[in-house]
Amino acid sequence: MKYKQFYWESSLNDKNYNEFNERIKVYYEKYRSNKEKKSYTELKNKSALNNLFIKRKTSRDFKVAIAKDELNNLLDATFNISYPSAGALYGLEIYCFVINVKGLTQGVYKMEKEGELTIFAETNDMKELINTLTLNYYLIDCSSCYFIIVAHTETYIQKYGERGFRFALQESGHLAQNIVLKATELSLRTFISGGYIEERYAEVLDLSKDEFVIYEIAIGK
Ligand SMILES: Cc1cc2nc3c(=O)[nH]c(=O)nc-3n(C[C@H](O)[C@H](O)[C@H](O)COP(=O)(O)O)c2cc1C
Repeated sequence: MKYKQFYWESSLNDKNYNEFNERIKVYYEKYRSNKEKKSYTELKNKSALNNLFIKRKTSRDFKVAIAKDELNNLLDATFNISYPSAGALYGLEIYCFVINVKGLTQGVYKMEKEGELTIFAETNDMKELINTLTLNYYLIDCSSCYFIIVAHTETYIQKYGERGFRFALQESGHLAQNIVLKATELSLRTFISGGYIEERYAEVLDLSKDEFVIYEIAIGK
C-alpha cells in the first residue's frame, strides 16, 4: 500500500530527527524573522464557542497537575463519537500516557469506547519512557498526561481504498480539535505536537502493521 510507504518515509527516526530539527531552525532564520506574527483576538460575536476558539492557545509550560475527574470529564465528552467519522467507521483509538494526574497511577492507559481508561502498560518512570518517544520531551514532561491518537487504517482502507488514509488523518483532526476545545472549556491547557518517533510508539504500544500514530496532545494546567 502506498500510504504505508508515505507514512514511514515521512516518519521521524533516530537517523533523521537532527536533520528535521535543523530544517526548522533554518526556516526560522530564513523565512520567519521578518514575518509578522498573526493574531486573532477581535470577536464580533462573543458566543461561548467563539470565546473558546480565542481562549485556546498552545501551552508549553504546565505547572499544576490535573485531577483524575478532570481527565474523565475531558475524555467523556470528547471520545464518545462526538466528532464526525468517515463512513461512521470510528477507526481511531486513544492511548493516554499518564505522567502526573492526581488520583491516577503513572502508566500507559487505553481509552475504551465506553469512555473508561484501562491500564495498558505500567512503568516506574514515565519521564524516562517518554524521553525516548517524543522530540518535544522538554515541553511535554511537565504536562499531566498526553494522548496519542492511533488510526486503524485498514478500517478505512477496506471501504475507501488508499483514499481511506486521508480520511483517517482528517478524522483525527476533528477528534484532536474536540479534545483541545473541551480541555479549554475545562480551563485545562493543551499542547499539540507533531514531533515524535513513530517506530518507538509502534513498539511501546505494540501496534500492528495497520495501526498508525497520528497525533500527540499533551494536557495540563
Ligand atoms: C499538527 C501540529 C503539529 C504541531 N507540532 C508542534 C511541535 O512539534 N512543537 C511545538 O512547539 N508546537 C507544535 N504545534 C503547535 C503550533 O506551533 C501552534 O498551534 C501554533 O504556533 C499556533 O499557536 P496557538 O496554538 O497558540 O494558537 C503543532 C500544531 C499542529 C496543528
